[in-house]
Amino acid sequence: MKVLKHLFENNCKWASSQTQSDPDFFNRLLKQQSPEYLWIGCSDSRVPANEIVGLLPGELFVHRNVSNLVVKNDLNCLSVIQFAVEALKIKHIIVCGHYGCVGVKAVLDDAKIGLVDKWLDNLKPVKENFRDKLFQIKDDALRFKKLCELNVVEQVLNVCKTEIVQNAWQRNQNLSVHGWIYDIKDGLLQDLDVCITTLDEFEKARKDASLKILKSSK
Ligand code: CO
Repeated sequence: MKVLKHLFENNCKWASSQTQSDPDFFNRLLKQQSPEYLWIGCSDSRVPANEIVGLLPGELFVHRNVSNLVVKNDLNCLSVIQFAVEALKIKHIIVCGHYGCVGVKAVLDDAKIGLVDKWLDNLKPVKENFRDKLFQIKDDALRFKKLCELNVVEQVLNVCKTEIVQNAWQRNQNLSVHGWIYDIKDGLLQDLDVCITTLDEFEKARKDASLKILKSSK
């Protein structure tokens, strides 16, 4: 007996429609994957990586976890980054957060959810570092949005701090790290303008990227 039958039915329909529109589709993927992008996003089911940027299987290497965190001792995330940068030679790493992120909200409100609180401890320093500025914002919804954005900037910097990315830049590998945010409300992405492509840019961004976020009043 096949459980979750409807998902297998969906799968058959999807596979045959892919083959119909492009008969060589699966043969090509079988030979190799050569994505140009690594996506680091939230596990949230409302933020499906490939769909929102219109990319097909084979075009986007993906890592997702609760609140799109890049933690320096997380073997899972670091392995993904290493494989993407050194084996696949991807050209762009996109850290994509989203407004309405439940993990960010839990940290903002000091809410307790369970085991995931331990994971979200990694996000707490972002709130603490900008506590004064964040709580000067009177509008609760805007404060929540700003912490979602600040979290993206922090995770972009965390990607840049990894030995993997630092070594890639040192050997002049073409690699950019981007910070984006997705709005569940309208399905649109926004570039947070923290694109970092060299060690020099990283040093500069370290000093002013977060402050820029807090200055913008949106
Ligand atoms: Co989220």
